[in-house]
Amino acid sequence: MLDENAPKFYLTTPIYYVNAAPHIGHTYTTFAADMIRTYKRMTGYRAVLTSGTDEHGQKVQRAAEKMGQTPEQYTATISEEFRTQWEKLGLHIDRFLRTTDPRQAAAVGKLYSACKKNGYIYKGSYTGQYCMFDELYVNDAQPGDPCPECGRPTETVTEENLYFKLSAFKEFLLDHFEKHPEFIQPEIRRNEILAFLKNDLKDLSISRTTITWGIPVPDEPGHVFYVWFDALMTYWTAVEGEGLWPADLHLVGKEIIRFHAIYWPAFLKAAGWELPKRIFAHGWLLFDNDKMSKSKGNIVRPEPIRQVMGADPLRYFLFREIPFGGDGNFSFDALVGRYNSDLANGLGNLLSRTTAMIRQYRGGKIPAANGAARGAAAIADEATKTAAAYCDSFDRFEFHRALEQVWALLTFVDRAIVQYQPWNLSKQEDAESQARLDEILYSSAETLRIVSILLKPVLPEITEKIWAQLGMTTALLDERIDRLEWGGLAAGQAVGEAAQLFPRLDLKETVEKMNELEVVEVARQNALLGKTAPEVASTPAEWTAPEGITPVAPQIEFDDFAKVDLRVARILTAEKVEKADKLLKLTMDVAEREPRTIVAGIAKAYTPEQLVGRKVVIVANLQPRKLRGIMSNGMIVAASLENTSPVLAGFLEDVPVGARLK
Ligand code: MSP
Repeated sequence: MLDENAPKFYLTTPIYYVNAAPHIGHTYTTFAADMIRTYKRMTGYRAVLTSGTDEHGQKVQRAAEKMGQTPEQYTATISEEFRTQWEKLGLHIDRFLRTTDPRQAAAVGKLYSACKKNGYIYKGSYTGQYCMFDELYVNDAQPGDPCPECGRPTETVTEENLYFKLSAFKEFLLDHFEKHPEFIQPEIRRNEILAFLKNDLKDLSISRTTITWGIPVPDEPGHVFYVWFDALMTYWTAVEGEGLWPADLHLVGKEIIRFHAIYWPAFLKAAGWELPKRIFAHGWLLFDNDKMSKSKGNIVRPEPIRQVMGADPLRYFLFREIPFGGDGNFSFDALVGRYNSDLANGLGNLLSRTTAMIRQYRGGKIPAANGAARGAAAIADEATKTAAAYCDSFDRFEFHRALEQVWALLTFVDRAIVQYQPWNLSKQEDAESQARLDEILYSSAETLRIVSILLKPVLPEITEKIWAQLGMTTALLDERIDRLEWGGLAAGQAVGEAAQLFPRLDLKETVEKMNELEVVEVARQNALLGKTAPEVASTPAEWTAPEGITPVAPQIEFDDFAKVDLRVARILTAEKVEKADKLLKLTMDVAEREPRTIVAGIAKAYTPEQLVGRKVVIVANLQPRKLRGIMSNGMIVAASLENTSPVLAGFLEDVPVGARLK
């Protein structure tokens, strides 16, 4: 059992965006975090792991809108999808935090207030590229660049934002990285960050006034926090008041290292809070040697693999195959190949061989091994050395090396069995042969005991089964990985029932089965995300829609449609919006007490003169939103193909203003 006073080890995964369902990339980081958590626990730490979901921002709001859901409904569904996925995979997440948790708003507010009090927040105007059609900021885009969502040219807009004085932290960061060389790992990422810091740091815009789905900035009506200022704080919020901060380790993918190694320490320093101890950025999991992405349709999900071979073999494969830190390729063939060679043949075979011989030659009881015959002593030495080397590698997160070492030990024992020939020794009645038989049986079983302890972080379910087969009744998790000693297996202990841990898998059949399950899983996930197009690479294109026609949105209930209030409106006035060549400000008669104002992106298609007096259709019950400082109350309905001008909806017969479309 863990000592009450055990030192803490607090680690985190990134919090995942809810605009995608969990896939093998998210799983990779979360597996690694779970492995480190267990390893730390088994080396005497009180290890606590935080993960969660990143739920704010315009994209999420839009995804929810597209599905006719509120952002609250949408985010709850997808967040739950992540949580259940981790449960199914047997992962232990101690704290699962959603950015929509009320504790998060409070904590982000505290961070902001502390930064502000210390003089690191100021108001400025933000200029960037914006897509009027999608109502989306496009980061890093240059004037005239297309919107990544719809391809229309973006426009340069300016709005008032709150800024964080990131520029004030360059020297501090350089100094911190020098004093704490372990802060950013691996080395390649540290160098990347140092190179980045050769240039001056630009201040960071941390709020938006065009977005409503976010944490409101205290005392700044209309402003919500913009992504990273909110997201990074989950690490802190999740353990607030528990004495676990600072984090000992943030595990992230390499693409978000900059936010973690530069923004995050700067925010914390500005607030006067403690910095995390270490950030480790791993590489990308590729599929067919290409980065997985929604648009390429080459995303792999863990669920079909788990259903066919269990979660442990997938973990083993990922961390044995790919040196942690670098990029690596995922392939179903390689997965099944390693399963058969390393798990079914290697580990599984040694276990079934050992327990079968103990049953056959020693009545199912672990024999005592008193003699120190050369071979057995050599196994003992090898196992002890392996355990030490394993810990060294694991401490450096060189999981592939740690696993390689264990498998070298298994091979060593296999060879010793061949040398000893227990099947011949069993036929000799002399005491020496019988003692040698005891030694090899004991050594194999004891090696398997040690290996179960070493592998517990990587193969959490399988090792429990091996543990039980060896007749162990203590809690495997309470063993100390860093204090392994040869000889822990008690003589006379009865080995358990034989069970086939790793049935051999036929490559073709297994991959086919996984592919079939993948189609089902993709359809299920797409339904949650409100997508119609399946995202599997192999899906045949049976029919191609005419250019510019998008697929019909997922079906909705009649009640959902009934929520949308479409009305006939007459345009009373129309004028151009300053510095926005696509926008028109319209006032409309909708048979209400007062005319409404609607800002519409139709200035390229219609002149104000063409519009005044015209009857059009509007969505009358959309939440008002501010566009270019003008509150727009509703939306005008127009039809367009992708990349063509919008055409306003109208009527052939006359129809009174205010009439509802049903
Ligand atoms: N929400 C931000 C992170 C905020 S942390 C305060 C985010 N979310 S994400 O959903 O895009 O997740 C990115 C992370 O998922 C990566 O950093 C990595 O940990 C993991 N991965 C997603 N795809 C991956 C691969 N293909 N390969 C390896 N890891 C991947 O960024």
